[in-house]
Amino acid sequence: MSPLPQPKGKQPKVIHLSSDQHHVVLGTAGTGKSTMAMMRALHLARPSTANNGPVLVVTFNNALVTYLKYLEPAAQSKITIETYAKFARGYLNSKGHMEWGRIAKPEQVSDAVAKAVQSARRRYRGSVLDRDLDWFIDELHWISGMGFTTEDAYQLADRVGRHTPLQKGLPRKVIWEIRDAYRKFRDEAGFWYDWYDLAAVTRGVFERDSGDRKYLHIIIDEGQDLSPEAIRSLTLAVAPGGSLTFFGDYHQAIYGQGLSWRSAGINLNGRPTEKFVDNLRNTAEIARVAIALAQSTYMKSGDIDLVEPVQPIVGGVKPTLARCVDGDGQIDLVRRFASDRSKVEKVAILARTWESARRVAGPLPYRRLDADLAKWDDEPGLYVGAYHSAKGLEFASVCMPFLDESHVPHPEVLAAYVEDEACAREARLLYVSITRARSTLLMTYSGTLTRLLPDNTDLWDEMVWP
Ligand SMILES: Nc1ncnc2c1ncn2[C@@H]1O[C@H](COP(=O)(O)OP(=O)(O)O)[C@@H](O)[C@H]1O
Ligand SMILES: [Mg+2]
Repeated sequence: MSPLPQPKGKQPKVIHLSSDQHHVVLGTAGTGKSTMAMMRALHLARPSTANNGPVLVVTFNNALVTYLKYLEPAAQSKITIETYAKFARGYLNSKGHMEWGRIAKPEQVSDAVAKAVQSARRRYRGSVLDRDLDWFIDELHWISGMGFTTEDAYQLADRVGRHTPLQKGLPRKVIWEIRDAYRKFRDEAGFWYDWYDLAAVTRGVFERDSGDRKYLHIIIDEGQDLSPEAIRSLTLAVAPGGSLTFFGDYHQAIYGQGLSWRSAGINLNGRPTEKFVDNLRNTAEIARVAIALAQSTYMKSGDIDLVEPVQPIVGGVKPTLARCVDGDGQIDLVRRFASDRSKVEKVAILARTWESARRVAGPLPYRRLDADLAKWDDEPGLYVGAYHSAKGLEFASVCMPFLDESHVPHPEVLAAYVEDEACAREARLLYVSITRARSTLLMTYSGTLTRLLPDNTDLWDEMVWP
């Protein structure tokens, strides 16, 4: 990412929103949310700004950190940029609440949930118990992300984001028993938390903490993927008289919680949210595919927090969809394209899984898109990762191989959820991935094309390879 651009349109307004109140800014992909987050951080940290103070920017990946070097030193020293997990761990550590080995890893969570489900199956029957292990894990994470600590609270909750809500009454009672058993098994195995509890624990510790707060201002980027408990904990972390600014896009909610900032204690006192629709990243041709996807049956929703994307003005070339003879044909085409293009511009190979992305890249030199991406610059080069790992980033060209029905929606997700929900989750991943491309998008498949892509009403050019 380059130095910060000149703010335009409604951007200056958002950058200078009041510094002693909370704000919510919703905008579709490429509308400048991350850019505004940095500009606002800079503004709030600047010694010449009234009510300036230490600023925390919560981000999903470290790409934003690169912006820091462009900022003037006096403000730079007052801005901290980190992921939510790093913030929560750091805070709990400073309060003596954290023991490193005590966070259960995903495998340890799965083991304990599997045991809990098994024991419930011995006592109950019913279709809720036929679900896949991932479904139970997701439900338990949802419960802890919401901050429910009693079965009553869970029974009363409207389950947003899950298209077929779990019935109240017995099914939820069974889940609640599984939750209790999971926590018991996890404790017995020596783990006090899992990554999702971290937010609830952090919120609880902040609530009892009457000490000084480290940050006067907190800015959240990609807020759609934080649980309500995480957002509540950040609200509680703001020093009195300070501000919290939430940036998010619910079309990109890839962890499927479908949760709104509304349930997370951000009080706007009746002030409106700020909405951004002007896409400053993608060409009109790329944006058209993303818009068609957002309007497809899988992603369409009446949610008032979903901002409808509009088509940008800058035109380019149509995306390409290549039908290849087989998987090797896809790999061959994508490698040719990527090795050629990455000499002159930033190119990404994004696939549904890490494994398939790596397989496509093969021997080409590339950098992995992990959250700790140490270096993000404007140099040409090839980047490789799973769809979700590209969140927040942008590339001149994006290749999306293996858009086969057998790969997307991913079979494990289809097995774990009812079809509607599985498809909605997977379509949002495609949406994130497509909107990473500034000007060129190459999509490939070889068997049956995924059902998730919208119909090609002139959205892309088709070719056969070889
Ligand atoms: N005022 C502006 N003038 C020119 N380009 C801008 C402006 N604001 C943002 N951009 C560019 O638009 C692209 C998308 O911005 P970004 O902040 O990543 O959007 P989002 O976080 O909403 O997806 C980036 O390339 C960014 O540099
Ligand atoms: Mg962003």
